[in-house]
Amino acid sequence: MSTAQYKLEYTTDPDIIKFNRVQNSEVWRGPMTPEEYNEREEKAARLQISLQDHSNYAGLYCFSFKDLSLPDNGGKLDQIVAACETLNKRAWVVVNGELKEIIAPCVGGVYTLPQHRKKGYAEKMISAVNEYWKEKLPSDTFMFLMSEVGPFYERCGYIGHAVPVLKVQYAHTDNYKLPFDEEAEGVEYLGWDNYEDLIIPFHDRVKAEIVELSKQNKDKHIFSLVPNMNQLTWFHLRDLHCGAIIGKNVTNSKLGVKLDKDNFMVWFHEWDTPELKVTKLQATSLENLIKLIQLGVQEAKNTDFAQLYIWESSIPEEYKEQLSEYLKVNFPTTKFSQVNTSIPSIMPLDDKVREEKSYIWAENDKWGWY
Ligand SMILES: CC(C)(COP(=O)(O)OP(=O)(O)OC[C@H]1O[C@@H](n2cnc3c(N)ncnc32)[C@H](O)[C@@H]1OP(=O)(O)O)[C@@H](O)C(=O)NCCC(=O)NCCS
Repeated sequence: MSTAQYKLEYTTDPDIIKFNRVQNSEVWRGPMTPEEYNEREEKAARLQISLQDHSNYAGLYCFSFKDLSLPDNGGKLDQIVAACETLNKRAWVVVNGELKEIIAPCVGGVYTLPQHRKKGYAEKMISAVNEYWKEKLPSDTFMFLMSEVGPFYERCGYIGHAVPVLKVQYAHTDNYKLPFDEEAEGVEYLGWDNYEDLIIPFHDRVKAEIVELSKQNKDKHIFSLVPNMNQLTWFHLRDLHCGAIIGKNVTNSKLGVKLDKDNFMVWFHEWDTPELKVTKLQATSLENLIKLIQLGVQEAKNTDFAQLYIWESSIPEEYKEQLSEYLKVNFPTTKFSQVNTSIPSIMPLDDKVREEKSYIWAENDKWGWY
């Protein structure tokens, strides 16, 4: 069979995009109806992070994958066998201490129609989408995706970098009481977009750190996403949209918490699982880290969630051991280093960098994902 039998089509047609999303909703919609799921995706497509910038290919791009050997009766949806999207995000690459801003496509919404599965369509589609962006973007960038299907994407050049998860559990029938006074500690809760002042220093710190990392690793490409509010707002939309649908009062939802400008935690309510998932955690002392976790547990409890879910990559290395000791005593059912079945995976576009794995993926943390 020649490759001309298959076609990756970039589409802006709302009917085709909706068809693909409604199909995909079968797997990801949780408590939402297919329509509600599609509505969430449409709202997300209007967020700043999704807006296309044709000067650098940033933003959201939707694709259909067609098998041209199937019947074509002139309908828009004929011959579509699979679909995916790429959300092309701002990122950095540093080589030899030289930092450059790039655009890195994140592949999502990978879906093959059930009747067409196991015929190699998804593998061909991902390879085609890789080629699509390789032709347009400079070779020093990367693509990335979250694999929900084990090592499958290795077939298409992606390398998995699994991150274990910490699940802080409290017996949620017990009365968890915060062991300090919120007001006296100056605790403030975060809303939709009222904490840019916390993210700007985070942005600057990551930028400085990756340049330093590059100086110590001159033979490597250092990759990182650019931290910004847009990444986090995307989670907030998802949280509030789904919460409202299942009847929660989300008007004054707490979307994170801050002790001061250097110590804060951003989260989203995963209504489906249900658990409170941390997207960004920053603490400059063990004491503050513990306080933030206590505040997270309080929010989980107030929402009637059984656990706080944290990627272990978010926890500062120097506090890990003492934090474990604290959790073992205070939240004894906590689960440490749990396997995350979602596997963050990356593909440097430069073949040599990919083959030799001569890169470091910095800040591979929940905030940059979905
Ligand atoms: C995953 C999916 C896109 C694969 O599509 P496909 O066109 O059948 O894929 P291909 O024919 O190219 O490859 C099939 C391979 O996918 C892998 N795969 C599919 N579903 C899988 C799963 N749930 N877990 C692990 N691997 C899986 C297997 O390795 C399979 O290989 P095999 O045929 O040797 O067993 C399709 O099953 C699907 O749409 N699933 C629901 C949505 C989804 O899970 N998307 C992935 C999000 S990251």
